[in-house]
Amino acid sequence: MENLRIPGPTPLPGEVLQAMIKQMINHRGPEFGQILNGVTANLKQLFQTKSDVLVLTGSGTGGLEAVIVNTLSPGDKVLSVSTGVFGERFASIAKEFGAEVMPLRFEWGKPADADAIRQVLQTKPEIKAVLVTHNETSTGITNDLASISRVVKEFDKLLLVDAMSSIGSINLPVDDWHCDVTVTCSQKAWMAPPGVAMVSVSQEGWQAHSKAKMPRFYWDFTRAKNYLERGQTPWTPALSIIFALAASLEMMLREGLPNILARHARVSQATREGIKSLGLSIFAQESHASNTVTAVRSSNGLDTKQMLRILREEHKVVLAGGQQSLDGKIFRIGHMGWITENDIETVISALRVVLPQAGFKG
Ligand SMILES: Cc1ncc(COP(=O)(O)O)c(C=O)c1O
Repeated sequence: MENLRIPGPTPLPGEVLQAMIKQMINHRGPEFGQILNGVTANLKQLFQTKSDVLVLTGSGTGGLEAVIVNTLSPGDKVLSVSTGVFGERFASIAKEFGAEVMPLRFEWGKPADADAIRQVLQTKPEIKAVLVTHNETSTGITNDLASISRVVKEFDKLLLVDAMSSIGSINLPVDDWHCDVTVTCSQKAWMAPPGVAMVSVSQEGWQAHSKAKMPRFYWDFTRAKNYLERGQTPWTPALSIIFALAASLEMMLREGLPNILARHARVSQATREGIKSLGLSIFAQESHASNTVTAVRSSNGLDTKQMLRILREEHKVVLAGGQQSLDGKIFRIGHMGWITENDIETVISALRVVLPQAGFKG
């Protein structure tokens, strides 16, 4: 078995794999209703919300599209707070559907600055919504969402949050931080396969939805909510993934959210220390380094592509490269979901052997 340490998909525990081999059932029948209601209730606990949570079949990007088309109208002005590849993707979707996107970009590897957001909101009262990526998976930065939320709510704007690689492993109390729409996907902290997006919608989120005019059909929140009231989804759901999610959520609740968050903090600390012990450095500003993904700067002659290949072929350790302009400049270690310090020790030990083989002269 490979030691899969990319920032999603993440490895699945045996209990979750077992749940997936369940025979198909009628997605309009009572058994599925019970499963969906259970999944929804458990997700609400882990999202720390009393608001609605919708389970949508699609990848995380589908979830981002759902957030945009359900809350905005063509011509709406939105502030895009971007700290990397996924912040840019959120903005591109909004633009594609006709929103007028005002970008506020921060240097990759640095966190978003709440004061800079305040300055824009002060001068541009016409902005309706703010798009934020809580944990920027491409750079390994966790933005200070609590502070950003305080600023956004000072100006009474809608807060739309990409929480794909944070919620469930990095604290994100959705209600306390007044997140209006928050989206994540099954292949991250949730220890389930890719293919399901989960979205919470606040009261304000529903109000925005009632006025939103962007075209939508598959992703329509009203349809999803109406069907959920009958224990169903509007369209045929990814049954096997929802079976997996039902099992993984039970595991997560048995461990308890505070323990899960503490485990991720410990594992990420061990990752950063291990990386530094090898003579490498962390790409992200350390005050905001993520507890789910560590981006490592390539230095001292290291050929990251060769390193990734040798790790995979000779050590069965699979890490991720950098995306877009960070291609070849960083590599990333995913540490979310089903992970302990031992898994990271294996990665660091393999790196210790492979780094000199891949040109590193640290
Ligand atoms: C922060 C963030 N946003 C969006 C996505 C897109 O999700 P998907 O690849 O499932 O469409 C990802 C996945 O890596 C992500 O990490």
